[in-house]
Formats: sequence, C-alpha cells, structure tokens
Amino acid sequence: MHAAVVSSFDTPPRFETYPTPAAFGEHEVLVEVLAAGLHPRVRSAADGSHYTSDGALPLIPGIDAVGRAPDGELLYFVAPDTALGTMAEYAVVDRRRAITLPPGTDPAAVAAAMNPGMSSWVALRRRVAFQPGGSILVLGATGNAGQLAVQIAKHLGAAHVVGAGRDPQRLDLLTKLGADEVVRLDGAADEVAARLGEAAADVDVVIDYLWGEPTRQAMPALLTARADRAKALAWVQIGSMAGQDITLPSFLLRAGNLNIMGSGQGSVTTAGIVAELPSLAEQIASGALTVDPLPIPLKQVREAWNTPTAPGQRIVLMP
Ligand SMILES: NC(=O)c1ccc[n+]([C@@H]2O[C@H](COP(=O)([O-])OP(=O)(O)OC[C@H]3O[C@@H](n4cnc5c(N)ncnc54)[C@H](OP(=O)(O)O)[C@@H]3O)[C@@H](O)[C@H]2O)c1
Repeated sequence: MHAAVVSSFDTPPRFETYPTPAAFGEHEVLVEVLAAGLHPRVRSAADGSHYTSDGALPLIPGIDAVGRAPDGELLYFVAPDTALGTMAEYAVVDRRRAITLPPGTDPAAVAAAMNPGMSSWVALRRRVAFQPGGSILVLGATGNAGQLAVQIAKHLGAAHVVGAGRDPQRLDLLTKLGADEVVRLDGAADEVAARLGEAAADVDVVIDYLWGEPTRQAMPALLTARADRAKALAWVQIGSMAGQDITLPSFLLRAGNLNIMGSGQGSVTTAGIVAELPSLAEQIASGALTVDPLPIPLKQVREAWNTPTAPGQRIVLMP
C-alpha cells in the first residue's frame, strides 16, 4: 500500500510504499482509509516530541481516521498506540475503538473535527458535572479545539461562554461561533488579568488549552475577582499550547474552591471516550458544529505538513 512514512524525526513524512497490515483476532478489521486529520498530536508523534514517543522508526503517523470496512460500513476510529497510524491507504481497526457513521457522512468533516471536538465534549460530559445554565471560559479558544469548545459549550446548554485568545482577528470569529464575550490575552499582564477578571471571574468551568504562563496568570485573576470564592471552579487542563508547567501558589487552593483536573486518554477510559463519540459525530455530520476541513491528497503529505491554514481550518489527508 501507499502510506505517509516517517523515517527521520527531523523531516516531514514521505509518501512511500509500505507493507499492508493484516487484521488479526475477532475485534480487528482492515479498512480502506478515506480521511485522516493532521492534528497537533499527530505532528508531535511524527517529530518525536510527544511524551509517548519511544524513538522507534519508521512509523506511519495519524491517530484517527474515517474509513470504509469491507462490508461498506463507514467508520470513525482511533488508531491503536503502535507505529502503524492512519495516514495510509489501509489501517487495521479495533472495533472497540470505532463507531459507525451514518451513510452520506462527509469523511473529511468528521476526520477534521472529532479529535479537537472530543477534547471539550468529553471534558464537559465525563470530567465535570456541568449543568445547563452554567458558564464556561475557554482559555486558548482560537484554535480548532477552542472554536469547537465554544460551540459545544453552547450546544450542551452553557448560558454564558467566554473565549480567550491572543489573536484579535481570530477572536472576532469566536463571536460569530456563539461566544458571548471574548478576552484578548495579548498585552501587559496586569491588563490581561483585569480583562479576565471582568469577563470570566464567576465561571463554573475553565477549559484550558494553554497552560504555561497564560494559565499561571489567569488562575489568580479569576479567583481574586470572584464574587463567591466558595463557589466551585473546575479548571480542566486539556492542552499545553503555551507551556508544559505552571507555578501554583498555595494560597490559590486555600482562597477559593479551585478544582484542577485534566481530561484526556487516561483520566477518561477508552470505553468512556468511545461512548461519547456517536453523539459528537452526529453533531458534526448534521452541520450543527462549524467545521472547516482542508482536504489534501495523501501523496502530497510532505507539502501538507507545511501548508498554512486559516483560523479553524484543519488539514485532512485523503488517501
Ligand atoms: N486532552 C484531549 O482530549 C485533547 C484532544 C484534542 C486536542 N488536545 C490538545 O488541545 C490543544 C489544542 O489543539 P487544537 O487542535 O485546537 O490545535 P490548533 O488548532 O493548532 O490550535 C492551537 C491554538 O493554540 C493557540 N496558542 C498557541 N500558543 C499560544 C499562546 N502562547 N497563547 C495563546 N494561544 C496560544 C494558537 O493561537 P493563535 O490562534 O494565536 O495562533 C492556536 O489557535 C493541543 O495541545 C492538543 O494536543 C487535547
């Protein structure tokens, strides 16, 4: 088969021939891959920087995809944690990590949006007891996951959603996607803190894609401006676009009802994540969530790796 193949962590994958994998056991099936998203997690695995990387090469990148099973069934699936990813003409699917998509579903839209979308969907449904009518701050809302988080928060019944990011133009887009308020994270630290305190001090949940310096500044900004500090604030760590670490002053944990947690594979079981996927896929397939896939043929994978994207756009490789 043809596949995107990483032979060195220093260069983008190349389009090459690769032995077609075989399905074994009752749960496995070999599918024809139709569309695979180029997510940040895919890039970090392909350049060896992801924490799960064991340095073994060659590898086929890709953590999820839409594919067609031999019986014609359309599937969205999450790849096993092996060197055989989804950016290939064929992939072995473990049926326990796959869901059936309705006929007629656009493979590129689902491949683009499931990974970024599930980050907030699973967090709000499995990690926090989020109630309709609650309020949410999305920290780092200008990326694919953040834009979907704003829409998903609204879809799940949030009464007030605040989107925070550093790019003013991209923040404008969030308002069109349903954000009630946006906060700029660029500028002097005290000004950013004042803006966050004004817009988001009383939220119930923070969906955090940034961590690092923006989170270190945002935590005291919210907690010290909160009208009722005993009201629970669930801070859900999801991405680390701005840094791997924060410094956490002890007073923050005493001075407010701050509950810090993460959401992702490990804090939620694979079965728990898979159970949430059909309803998310339904929202994507129906067009209820705004999704902007940029399909690129798999044979152009090298160029795709460095292709710039518009706000909210996700590259999808099409074998
Ligand atoms: N835990 C999970 O279940 C899960 C699932 C999916 C994704 N994730 C993680 O979520 C994160 C976002 O994914 P994505 O698909 O949305 O990626 P993306 O589309 O590439 O967006 C990343 C966004 O981060 C912003 N950003 C980067 N550095 C920043 C900084 N220092 N300050 C403010 N904003 C900054 C960028 O802002 P600009 O617009 O200003 O460039 C960009 O909009 C990634 O870390 C990904 O691994 C986690």
